[in-house]
Amino acid sequence: MFQHVEFYPGDPILGLMEKYNQDPRSEKVNLGVGVYYDGEGRLPVLECVKTVERALAETPRPRGYLPMEGTPAYRAACQKLLFGADNPAVKEGRIATIQSLGGSGALRVGADFIREWFPQAKCYVSNPTWGNHVSIFEGAGFEVGKYPYYDPATIGVKFQEMKDFFRTLNENDVLILHPCCHNPTGVDLTREQWDELLGIIKEKKLIPFMDIAYQGFADDMESDVYAVRRAVELGLPVFVSSSFSKNLSLYGERVGGLSVACPSAEEAKLVLGQLKFTVRRIYSSPPSHGNAVVDGVMNNEDLFKQWEGEVYEMRDRIRAMRSRLQEVLSAKVPGRDFGYFTKQRGMFSFTGLSPEQVERLQKEFAIYMVSNGRMCVAGLNEKNIDYVANAFAEVLK
Ligand code: LMR
Repeated sequence: MFQHVEFYPGDPILGLMEKYNQDPRSEKVNLGVGVYYDGEGRLPVLECVKTVERALAETPRPRGYLPMEGTPAYRAACQKLLFGADNPAVKEGRIATIQSLGGSGALRVGADFIREWFPQAKCYVSNPTWGNHVSIFEGAGFEVGKYPYYDPATIGVKFQEMKDFFRTLNENDVLILHPCCHNPTGVDLTREQWDELLGIIKEKKLIPFMDIAYQGFADDMESDVYAVRRAVELGLPVFVSSSFSKNLSLYGERVGGLSVACPSAEEAKLVLGQLKFTVRRIYSSPPSHGNAVVDGVMNNEDLFKQWEGEVYEMRDRIRAMRSRLQEVLSAKVPGRDFGYFTKQRGMFSFTGLSPEQVERLQKEFAIYMVSNGRMCVAGLNEKNIDYVANAFAEVLK
């Protein structure tokens, strides 16, 4: 019956986590999945989350179905964070927002929507990108192409090629963009570059789909959404998939959002209706616990401030690890420039290690990284950094 079913070799990122968990070696280090671990190597429960969880436990609430689109308070929290509560587009009701099953769920619902209403559209992702971008959009029926992005020669962006490529695209083609903390490279565009690109996107009538899973990890909450707000300001029909997985350390709760900026409130209603219908036919409605935690933190002024502080602590610890690794490696491997570790932003660093070197790290040193050379810097801490630096130096010899 099922002999024709194709073998699934596993996911390059989540499969790595399974392998890491099964590794019996005590010195093992997980630099694979994009998850923040604290200085002790533990997955943190944020203090602001604990406060809300305690209050929720004290007064258990009935668990009815949430609306297909999530609750108004949750959706308002997403909008406030991404666009700013005073954004005219928010005030005028021009943004359709739903609660989603993490960032991945938002991408899928958005992809289904675009596929249905813009069936000619092709989708383009950065070269390279997070592997699941391709899977999600192909899964929704898109033909997925790549646009030039990372330049290994400069450890920067192939900006001219990127612009030239965008100019060749057709109306309503979809561009998956990373507003901050590019996954997997950690190499971001500058504000000036965003301004230029968004101008081309407007001129060519393309659809920007901005995937933001690391808000707060590059510079700060506001600066990290520069591209999102600028796109709205320019009147672009921008789709934004957002996630609280990383910045609230709520990975397993699947807390995300999808927002679509529309030209009018009337169109936003139409879009919201179709997003609800898409949700209904995939999973009906979102889960309520994560919703309550996000609502509790984001819609309470004190807890919101505390949360921002906690995110910045995570950001700063990652930055400190970047500097340490750069310092230790520069001493161990003289003549090689490791400056990129501190130039790249967010959780990831594209190390430039080859798949063979990554494999050696796993086999000989129990250090787990994605085979494209992506390292999750948040897996480093004071206890393992020298061990990792030594191992890197060894495979770079
Ligand atoms: C990652 O890139 O490692 C994270 O976004 C987790 C995932 O789902 O792949």
